[in-house]
Amino acid sequence: MVTRRQSVFTCSACGHQAAKWLGHCPDCGAWNAFIEEAVQPRGDGTGRGVLRTGAAATPEVVCLSEVVSSACRRFTSGIAEVDQVLGGGIVPGSVVLLGGEPGIGKSTLLLQVMDAVASDRRVLLVCGEESPAQVKLRAERIGARPDAVRVLAETDLDTMLAVVDHDCPDLLVVDSVQTLYTSGLSSAPGSVSQVREAASQLQRLAKKTGTVVFLVGHVTKDGTIAGPRALEHIVDTVLEFEGDRHRVYRVLRATKNRFGSTNEVGIFEMGSRGLLPVSDLSHLFLSDREPGPGACIHIAAEGTRCFLVEVQALVHPSELSVPRRVTTSTDRNRLAMIVAVLGRHTDLPLSGSDVFVNIAGGIRMEEPAADLAMAVAIASAARRIPPPSSCAVFGEVSLTGEIRSCRQSERRVTEALRSGFTDVLVPGRDKRLQLKAESSAHGVQDIAAAFASIFGTADNRDRHCTLAVEQGV
Ligand code: TYD
Ligand code: MG
Repeated sequence: MVTRRQSVFTCSACGHQAAKWLGHCPDCGAWNAFIEEAVQPRGDGTGRGVLRTGAAATPEVVCLSEVVSSACRRFTSGIAEVDQVLGGGIVPGSVVLLGGEPGIGKSTLLLQVMDAVASDRRVLLVCGEESPAQVKLRAERIGARPDAVRVLAETDLDTMLAVVDHDCPDLLVVDSVQTLYTSGLSSAPGSVSQVREAASQLQRLAKKTGTVVFLVGHVTKDGTIAGPRALEHIVDTVLEFEGDRHRVYRVLRATKNRFGSTNEVGIFEMGSRGLLPVSDLSHLFLSDREPGPGACIHIAAEGTRCFLVEVQALVHPSELSVPRRVTTSTDRNRLAMIVAVLGRHTDLPLSGSDVFVNIAGGIRMEEPAADLAMAVAIASAARRIPPPSSCAVFGEVSLTGEIRSCRQSERRVTEALRSGFTDVLVPGRDKRLQLKAESSAHGVQDIAAAFASIFGTADNRDRHCTLAVEQGV
């Protein structure tokens, strides 16, 4: 006779289940993340919550031609940046998970969306984390209309589903999914099985009624609370709200989107009256810039948005036997690679120097297109020659020293010219750019050509260096 196992061990980071406790999750690699949970008896077919409200209908086979596309029924969130990240607006019946560290602004963003959507739709906020009075305080702070948002302070999943089923809102926001619990499961609120159960019940509700569900999910570093990872395959869209709490701007990006691309980003500034979309990013990052040696303007692209950032480098004689290559803004190995390419394909003596690279404003830039700006900033710091103040660059540097083409090249050039940079260096082999002789954008084929274009010929460089040494720069 087969005996039924009474408990199961679940990874709180990814939801992987095992019969015994494991220190290391074989699925996601998390350490010490397994927690013991009671095994739930199989349902008797009646289900709980929303499933109980309707008799099981016989499923119907339909032809795609008869299906009405929900894309044409998208509605706006009232914030253009959010619409863009969602792929052109909110799709009815979709479930969107908004993840992010505590305090980043998730509740604020969703309250702003609810305030905008409430003008012609029913919205309901289920708040398990805050009291209605606290929500009201925030609403007053961001200037939301007091009669726009209706609030339900409830953490019991079944009660909440019954209210929602009766209320039929067009937009339901659950803040946060970790606070919901169902008494049908014995595990604690916030555990993987509770969070998963809540998400799948809400997913069924959304598909049945057409209600849009936004779930707020906390991401914690120690993994003690079931993070949104466990939910990613249940929901339609996963948005991540990130940024440094010490800086004012926040980035909203989609890491999964069944109804649009995951390339777009929305950028916001946290102000005293909520989040404000930032339309001119270049201005945000370059407003207090003072051109000098060691700084180069990179034309960055996030999705279809292009903006300018300042890459800064410092080259200093090392006191260590193995010189340091330090960066907080990009991958350390990428920096090491660029330093090696510079050593091999140019005449820069970097082997005895520490090299530090940073991007002003504290943003991280993983795209290979930032290679050229890093290389120019390092060369400029080493030679103590500033690049021309009208110069902006982009391009991937290959191990052979060539400058490779990058995506969004036309948009990048347009953004640089719009911001007043008249000396734009671009990958020379990029056929899409069709550079004209009189254009402000110059194609460069390799790193040596790029340096010659920016710093002039070797003679010129020597003269600059001598001048810099004489002036004690
Ligand atoms: P919140 O939306 O509560 O973050 P989350 O839901 O992600 O935990 O707000 C985050 C922070 O933003 C909080 O520290 C206060 C600050 N804030 C402002 O600076 N301006 C504002 O107008 C609001 C509403 C919040
Ligand atoms: Mg919150």
